[in-house]
Amino acid sequence: MVDWTWKALATVPACAGGIAGQSDAQNQSVSSGKLVSTDPPYYDNIGYADLSDFFYVWLRRALKPVFPDLFATLAVPKAEELVATPYRHGSKEKAETFFLDGMTQAMHRLAEQAHPAFPVTIYYAFKQAESDGADGTTNTGWDTFLAAVIEAGFAISGTWPMRTELSNRMIGSGTNALASSIVLVCRQRSTTAHTATRREFVAALKAELPKALAHLQAGNIAPVDLAQAAIGPGMAVYTRYARVLDAEGKPITVRAALALINQTLDEALAEQEVDADSRWALTWFEQTGFAEGDYGVAEQLSKSKNTAVAGLVEAGILVSKAGKVRLLKPAELPADWDPTTDTRLTVWEMVHHLIRVLEAGGEGAAAAIVTKLGSRAETARELCYRLYTLCERKKRANEAMAYNGLVQSWPEITRLARETPTPTKRTDDMFDSE
Ligand SMILES: C[S@@+](CC[C@H](N)C(=O)[O-])C[C@H]1O[C@@H](n2cnc3c(N)ncnc32)[C@H](O)[C@@H]1O
Repeated sequence: MVDWTWKALATVPACAGGIAGQSDAQNQSVSSGKLVSTDPPYYDNIGYADLSDFFYVWLRRALKPVFPDLFATLAVPKAEELVATPYRHGSKEKAETFFLDGMTQAMHRLAEQAHPAFPVTIYYAFKQAESDGADGTTNTGWDTFLAAVIEAGFAISGTWPMRTELSNRMIGSGTNALASSIVLVCRQRSTTAHTATRREFVAALKAELPKALAHLQAGNIAPVDLAQAAIGPGMAVYTRYARVLDAEGKPITVRAALALINQTLDEALAEQEVDADSRWALTWFEQTGFAEGDYGVAEQLSKSKNTAVAGLVEAGILVSKAGKVRLLKPAELPADWDPTTDTRLTVWEMVHHLIRVLEAGGEGAAAAIVTKLGSRAETARELCYRLYTLCERKKRANEAMAYNGLVQSWPEITRLARETPTPTKRTDDMFDSE
């Protein structure tokens, strides 16, 4: 730890400009006229007050004579803590209400006090394991928090993923934990905002989300963070209006808006053009994964995708035996594969070979393949977002982790690829991008 912290010290201004104080976010006045950047509690992720007791009891013994006011209580104060813990509030519903009311009040306080010339930036790094939305991604932790921010009079004008979480932190090890925090950029909501219909809202999402998605992908955002990063551009549309009303004139809730944002994101991801074999593989994979399925079903699907089972076998992605077919897992793909001599190169194959090579030989080995693929490698990286999203929805955590891992290793893979001499024969001309 000392090894990282001294680097930060070198950039700390050499003046005694900082102050530290303690107050309840629901009635503080420290933010008055200031530029605010804040890191609030993330729904029910961590009970800081309980955690603090562990240290507090020891600190109190040593420091009570020095700071009698700070250490007046036997344990850390708990009642004001904005955290949705059912054990403290009696039930899940009561905990949610407590969090929503308290957070709305805290956000109100910020909205009315913060300097109007600057946006308020709010860190939010929440990922709930159990999704409860109809589409499988919206969840209480997010929509309760967003509802509080919007209710408090803020419009959300952006969300920036920021790499803030260490991969070795305890809550992250061995899980698809967030690699980033999302910074919500909030401004006071315009008083002239007009009411929109659901149709207008959806049309605006369809027009604006694909561009935002391309921007996020260009920045190599981790697939695990994509859905939450897309909430920003989606919410920027939603909070542009005073209200969004459905056909019956009832307001569209934050939760419903998030579901529409996710749906539009899915559609935008599915717009990536891929070759016919990969299109077949994507649909098959969504339904069957790497498990076995009937030849007849596979053949029928292949007709609608303009390919054939025999061709998929020839492409090297499928086994077909005794009336059954299944997609080859990365580890089963031939180790001597060479994209420069592959006569039926598919983007599906590129992704899964890259995963195989990355897992078996590390980033250097993957870089050698990327060098041979040339600019086509980019299409493989892009497809990982769609594959990750699909696996996450289907709760296929291990596979999801592999696609996420490939994207996260991408900057290093391409850096190493740039250092590798380019092969004389390029594959770009051989690839039918269709
Ligand atoms: C996500 S943590 C911030 C962590 C901090 N950025 C750090 O790196 O140490 C959220 C913090 O909000 C505090 N908190 C919870 N309820 C609060 C309230 N009502 N008023 C002020 N702070 C509160 C928690 O105790 C916790 O320290």
